[in-house]
Amino acid sequence: MHSLRHKSYSLGRDCLRTTTTANARQRKSYSAAYVTVGRLFARLHHVSAVVVGSGPAGVATVGNLLEQLGEGGKVAWIDPAFRGGRVNRKYREVPSNTQVGLFLAYADAVKPFQEISKAAPKPNALTALEELPQNQTCSLHQAGDMIQLLTDGLTKHDRVESCVGRVDSAKWDAATSTWTLTVRDYANKKDVVRSAPLVVYCTGSSPTTVALPTPFSSSLRLLDLDTALKPSALARNLPADRSLRIGVMGSSHSAILVLMNLVHLAQTSHRKLRVRWFARSPELKYAEYRDGWILYDNTGLKGDAAKFAREQLDGDALKTSPAGRVITRVDCSGGAEREQKALAAELPECEYVVQAVGFSRDPLPRMESVGEGVVFDHVTGGFTDATTGEKVEGLFGAGIAFPEKTVDPEGNVEYAVGFMKFMRFLKKVVPAWVAQTGAK
Ligand SMILES: Cc1cc2nc3c(=O)[nH]c(=O)nc-3n(C[C@H](O)[C@H](O)[C@H](O)COP(=O)(O)OP(=O)(O)OC[C@H]3O[C@@H](n4cnc5c(N)ncnc54)[C@H](O)[C@@H]3O)c2cc1C
Ligand SMILES: NC(=O)c1ccc[n+]([C@@H]2O[C@H](COP(=O)([O-])OP(=O)(O)OC[C@H]3O[C@@H](n4cnc5c(N)ncnc54)[C@H](OP(=O)(O)O)[C@@H]3O)[C@@H](O)[C@H]2O)c1
Repeated sequence: MHSLRHKSYSLGRDCLRTTTTANARQRKSYSAAYVTVGRLFARLHHVSAVVVGSGPAGVATVGNLLEQLGEGGKVAWIDPAFRGGRVNRKYREVPSNTQVGLFLAYADAVKPFQEISKAAPKPNALTALEELPQNQTCSLHQAGDMIQLLTDGLTKHDRVESCVGRVDSAKWDAATSTWTLTVRDYANKKDVVRSAPLVVYCTGSSPTTVALPTPFSSSLRLLDLDTALKPSALARNLPADRSLRIGVMGSSHSAILVLMNLVHLAQTSHRKLRVRWFARSPELKYAEYRDGWILYDNTGLKGDAAKFAREQLDGDALKTSPAGRVITRVDCSGGAEREQKALAAELPECEYVVQAVGFSRDPLPRMESVGEGVVFDHVTGGFTDATTGEKVEGLFGAGIAFPEKTVDPEGNVEYAVGFMKFMRFLKKVVPAWVAQTGAK
């Protein structure tokens, strides 16, 4: 005992070294075991593809994947609600800016959708759309109902595993060419994993807000764009019995619809309401229907917004139109500095401001395998690592957050946002995504 102890003393350093090496070996084998268990666990939840988000882009992606994957190919689909995304959540009272026929073309674009619509009891959201004039616009609640019908059909599809929850993180394993996603499963209140060689982010966007000139903005309140786009909520949220001045920034679809809603309120229930419109140009931009294509298809005004703008807002129309009795245009042309000056001069007159200045991508799940984030490729639908510039394997995007870049016959570059535009893009790129990743 003594000699042993002595021996061990005398071997102290070596022992320590040996123990350290042994610990390291053990740690290595633990971590190897951990990786193996992790991979086994992930394999248990392995599917051909994972789609994150169930707005119009997520629905179209699932439909295309079911068509392109082999007969046994399964798709995991994750969303906190499966209610048709932002259009159904926020914009059911908004008039569409696309024609009814395009919503029906979307619903008929892939075989799984055709099967769902064939099996759906009638009358339903699709028959309701069919009864409308096909070359007119409609209310977005009708497009939202159609998305809900397809969503309900897809979540019951035998090759779709839907999970009500949120994807928190995603990790790429290069050795197995697999993404493993950690999902907060809302129904079971626990974290679950899903793994696949192919992941598609259809995670959507929210209204952008920009900094306003200070100190003038201190008493000013932001009126949420989504509220301003919903006439019933707008009427409820604004006092009707006193003078009220609201600033509106922007001149695209959202801004024009907000102006339209405010003018309607001022003409009916909120007679003392007045509007300052912060516009970068007195002239507005409209979509123009050409032979077989549309000029400014993505950036020009269409539908009810275009009609209202042409008749009541554009150029000199505001001077004599009924809207002109409610709205005063503030010239924000001539660059950022002049715009800030105009805002600083006029915003103190306003109690609220609506920022209708575009939409920004919602936060993506945390990605351990990429450093500073990812850069989207608007042509292929894939991503590169923002730090290394290298291709991010197996990861793709679609929808308002990840639109296709288009160039029209006159060379105008735009980003294609709309139900049928997502569908056309996906029809083009999904076969390549499946081939590249070997997803089956
Ligand atoms: C006011 C307005 C009107 C529009 N009108 C039209 C129109 O008339 N016609 C037309 O064709 N297009 C229209 N669009 C454009 C476009 O069709 C919509 O913006 C559409 O909602 C975009 O669909 P999406 O699937 O990309 O995103 P969303 O509808 O925003 O869906 C994204 C989904 O992803 C989920 N999600 C996000 N992160 C996660 C996560 N980590 N895990 C799980 N789920 C997640 C969200 O909860 C959401 O359900 C309009 C857009 C706006 C803003
Ligand atoms: N169904 C409908 O009718 C409807 C309604 C709303 C939205 N949408 C869709 O939703 C998407 C987003 O539309 P959107 O209108 O919200 O945004 P958008 O098309 O991205 O346009 C944003 C507008 O804000 C302006 N802008 C940006 N920053 C500004 C600032 N700091 N001050 C003042 N103006 C500023 C831009 O002007 P510049 O171009 O000069 O930068 C542009 O006109 C589009 O696809 C649209 O078709 C549809």
